[in-house]
Amino acid sequence: MHGVPLKIASLQIRSLIHNPALFTVLVLAGEEIPDLLQHLASEHPDTDPLIAAVNRYHRAEEARHLSFARTVLPEMWDEASAVERFRVLRVAPIGIRGLFDLFVHPGVYESIGLPGWKTWRAVRSLPTRVALRHAATRPIVAALRDAGAVTTVPKGWRDLAGVDHAGNPVPGDVRLPGIATA
Ligand SMILES: [Fe+2]
Repeated sequence: MHGVPLKIASLQIRSLIHNPALFTVLVLAGEEIPDLLQHLASEHPDTDPLIAAVNRYHRAEEARHLSFARTVLPEMWDEASAVERFRVLRVAPIGIRGLFDLFVHPGVYESIGLPGWKTWRAVRSLPTRVALRHAATRPIVAALRDAGAVTTVPKGWRDLAGVDHAGNPVPGDVRLPGIATA
């Protein structure tokens, strides 16, 4: 990476370093989403045993990161400025939605002969994918609640995680094998 993209990336990194609460929330997203995907992959009977074992091992490794992020979030939140809090409450859910959507690259669909971006867009709104997004992001809302960052959950987070104003799951998601849904 060089030129303008490098400048933008380094500005973003610098901004995140100075916004530790926002950074921690994004870390949580980057940990919770793969944790759920790997949980599902490792427990699915059709998963190759080696892949299942690697996923289990990786989840165990990553558990420390999840626990660390949850532990430090209250302190980070206490010290966050009004601008940083606004970014956590209003902007972060938009970014996390994009992050979730990009966990499956359009090239995956192309590799099985489907149109990449067209399929990617269609899959984003399937009930199973929405239920998966809700299940993957609800723990982040719970961490925000535990940190005292939200009492009334903002709209972006409610939509992202399928929760109500209090942060409780809104019933109606399709059932996903291996996940307890609302
Ligand atoms: Fe990690």
